[in-house]
Amino acid sequence: MAKTLLVTGGAGFIGANFVHYWLCQYPQDRVVVLDALTYAGNRANLDCVVGNAQLKFIQGDICDADLVEKLLREEGVDTLVHFAAESHVDRSILGPDAFIQTNIMGTYSLLKAAKKVWLDGASVKPHRFHHVSTDEVYGTLGPNDPAFTENTPYAPNSPYSASKAASDHLVRAYHHTYGLQVTTSNCSNNYGPFHFPEKLIPLVITNVLYNKNLPVYGDGLQIRDWLYVEDHARGIDLVLQKGAVGENYNIGGHNEWANIDIVKLIGKLLEAEFASDPRWAEKYPQAAAAMAGNTESLITYVKDRPGHDRRYAIDASKTGSELGYKPHESFETGIRKTVRWYLENDAWWRAVMDGSYKDWVAQQYS
Ligand code: NAD
Ligand code: DAU
Repeated sequence: MAKTLLVTGGAGFIGANFVHYWLCQYPQDRVVVLDALTYAGNRANLDCVVGNAQLKFIQGDICDADLVEKLLREEGVDTLVHFAAESHVDRSILGPDAFIQTNIMGTYSLLKAAKKVWLDGASVKPHRFHHVSTDEVYGTLGPNDPAFTENTPYAPNSPYSASKAASDHLVRAYHHTYGLQVTTSNCSNNYGPFHFPEKLIPLVITNVLYNKNLPVYGDGLQIRDWLYVEDHARGIDLVLQKGAVGENYNIGGHNEWANIDIVKLIGKLLEAEFASDPRWAEKYPQAAAAMAGNTESLITYVKDRPGHDRRYAIDASKTGSELGYKPHESFETGIRKTVRWYLENDAWWRAVMDGSYKDWVAQQYS
């Protein structure tokens, strides 16, 4: 039966990739995107599905419980997929307020509205509330520790991860106390198209193309477990189709890399692209100098992130054995595709980076 989804944060990096994925896989379903269009939200991330009659975009704040309630009722939503969040750890260290507001109060507002519409009427309506969380709620690992499982105790270390952990607990409580049909997924670091260039992988790609320094925090030996964003969307799909209500599912790529090795790898991939295709030197004259020399010379070790988690690694075996989850993209293919996407889509990231993009997009869609 066709579903109607409310996707919060659907104009952000993962939310937009999820919307592309969903409309392609399930063309009969309706998707309503609710997004406040903060600095990280971008209407253009949905350009390739604009005009699709199954998609509706609403600019609004998840903290506005009345708006959420109205959308759930009027659009006949049966499935809420909750991506909206403040997502950047460094920003959470500089200013936690927005993280507490959106990640905790915003999730609470969605839960309140969902309870009212789906549970509190004359009869309980069929529904699912899927909460998109992160591996960062589990804290940090030593070099030889086993990867995080769904039973690893929560130990968040940054204002960002603490706010996500709080939201996970609220979601759990709404299931336990009120019977809301919830699932939660905890995913490792994503990469791919539309990744905002403040995050490590797109930052390194775009900085090389501007011939700017590549800032590596501390000793650069921190480890992250990288997953291609479409594989995250695929994992959420499986949780929605087959996941047990009230359960958490880890999603990850079994793909641990030290930051410094990621930075060097991206440099090498860009050097190979420039060597094989003269278009890139024409398009990025500033980068050509670095390519001719060595992108590694751009690496600059900088002051470490306060409270920096040393290592994340996800054990996704429960999601594999219970739901049949397996990433489709290898890191080798995924990172090449991503580098190529940024080479080809400079209009997107230049506009995001020079800050004029929001005005331009507002004009486009007014
Ligand atoms: P993002 O920062 O790229 O996008 C967040 C989106 O939420 C933006 O479109 C923004 O406009 C919107 N938003 C923010 N505050 C809002 C509000 N109050 N009301 C409505 N919309 C609002 O984030 P992302 O990287 O796409 O992450 C999406 C989700 O996935 C987050 O919940 C994040 O915690 C989680 N997650 C991210 C990663 C990752 O590697 N990026 C990994 C695991 C989990
Ligand atoms: O693990 C999942 C999380 O991954 C998500 O929940 C977050 O929303 C997402 O932002 C991401 O968090 P990280 O802090 O791991 O991602 P980020 O890209 O900011 O940093 C990746 C690593 O690279 C981290 O160890 C910090 C380091 N880094 C980052 C930047 C931006 C640098 O060394 N230099 C940099 O300039």
